[in-house]
Formats: sequence, structure tokens, C-alpha cells
Amino acid sequence: MAGSVLIVDDETVVIKSCERILAPEGYSVQGATRAREAMDMIKKVDFDLIITDLKMPEVDGIELIRWIRKNNPGSGIVVITGYPSQESIKDSLELGIIDYLPKPFSPQLLIDVTEKAFTAIKATSGKERPEAEEDIETKLKDIMEVIEKYKTKPGALIPVLQKVQGVVGYLPPAVQRIIAKELNLPVSEVHAVVSFYSFFTMKPKGKHNVRVCLGTACYVKRAAEILDKVKEYLGIDEGGITEDKKFSLETVRCLGACGLAPVVVVDHDIYGSVDPVKVSETIKQYT
Ligand code: FES
Repeated sequence: MAGSVLIVDDETVVIKSCERILAPEGYSVQGATRAREAMDMIKKVDFDLIITDLKMPEVDGIELIRWIRKNNPGSGIVVITGYPSQESIKDSLELGIIDYLPKPFSPQLLIDVTEKAFTAIKATSGKERPEAEEDIETKLKDIMEVIEKYKTKPGALIPVLQKVQGVVGYLPPAVQRIIAKELNLPVSEVHAVVSFYSFFTMKPKGKHNVRVCLGTACYVKRAAEILDKVKEYLGIDEGGITEDKKFSLETVRCLGACGLAPVVVVDHDIYGSVDPVKVSETIKQYT
């Protein structure tokens, strides 16, 4: 099972469609139409992720998030919002939400946001890779130089994150904490920005990043077989990195090149009509 998710929304149809979309992805999904009902469920079940509407009758989403932060701080939170006011989003960010889903949202967006939220939950659950500490120690001077350069400029957060990612290669939670402290921002705000933009990554990448597309057009053309072959060749799972840090492996859902399906991308090189038997030869070129 990919993880447990609680959907809190006063519209039953939203809960039902989230269940329909997330259950086939391997998530265990439950729903609550009221915040109080959600609180009762959270007291009994330790949900990994809670996706909640902000606007609800009786107890609203912000109050529910405050309650979760106090009573079940380990759960990740994503908010569903129709017309987000600056205030409600600001409050939610202060409370450490991972991301938000603007209503109405597509099935793919729900899947992507949920996946991203689970990556963030794992990364902040105290099980940081030991290498992360090493990466930071050796690069701390460079990280501080970047921060010093941008510190006094308005809107420094995004350029600092970009430059620091360039230095470290990724943005693990420990690096996010340093940036938050030095820029005088809440860690939740830094974390929300890193989770929100797809060009930021919390996972280390190898010198060469291999992406196997598992979107529908590629899937029907044996993409799962291709993925298995790549895993076998590199000796790593998806999301993993080889011991020599030469390769990392990711899966993606549609690279927008369905006409070339099945597609594999290595760094910025796109390979179409990939043959599962020959995919290892393609990767071998990068060794
Ligand atoms: S499904 Fe693979 S590129 Fe579109």
C-alpha cells in the first residue's frame, strides 16, 4: 500500500472522485464530510496524509489543520481550495501544509500532488539519508555564500533555493532549515515553496538522471517492462541512486511526447520507441 489518505470535504462527490482516482494508485482512502467527523477518525487512525477543504460548515479547514498540527503532527496536510484568499493560504502555509489543490482539479493533478506530498512526508519524517548530512557539511560554506548574496534582496527565497540546489544538487529538509533560519522565514514556508515547484527536488540525483514514462500511451507499449529492465541494469529502484552516484531513476506520467511512445529520457536526451531489450544499451552510453 502506498499510504493512507483522509479526504475531508463537505461535498461527497469530491470524496468519491478522490477515492476513485487514488485507490487504483495503491492508496488506502477514507473520507469525512465534516471536520468533527475527521477529528474522530484521526483519533483512531494515524493517516499519513490529510487532504482537506478549507471552506466547510461548522469547523472550517484552518481550524482542522490547527487541530491536526497539535494532535497528530506527523500527518502531512494538503488543502483543497476554491478561491484561495491570500490570508487562508498564508495561514495554511504558516501551519506547514505541503501543497494545495485548486478546485476543480484534474485526476492527474491529484495524483501528482499526492505523490509529491508523500515524498515530502518521507523526507521530513526524521529518516533523512545520512548522505544528506555529508552533502551539507562539505558544501555549507558555498550555501552560506549564496544566502549572503541574496539575503537583503526582496523575494530572495526562490533564487536562493535555485542556487543552493545548484550547489548541493537537491534540497533536503536540513538545507531547507538552514535557508529558513538565514532568511528569517518559517520552515513551513520554505518547505511549501520547494514542494510546490516541480523544478525543486528533495531527492539527490545521480550525474545522469533516467526518467521512464509510465503515462498511458507509454504504458500500453510495454513501459513497465522497460522500467524493470532499467531497474535491473542499474540495480536500483525508482527514486533510487546508484552507489557511485552516476545514475538516478525516476518515473514520470507523460512527457508530452506520446507520439514517440514508449519514451525514456536521460538528462535532456529523449529516446522514443524504446525497446525493453535494448534499453540498457541506451543507458550504457552514459557510463
Ligand atoms: S504517455 Fe509517455 S510521453 Fe505521453
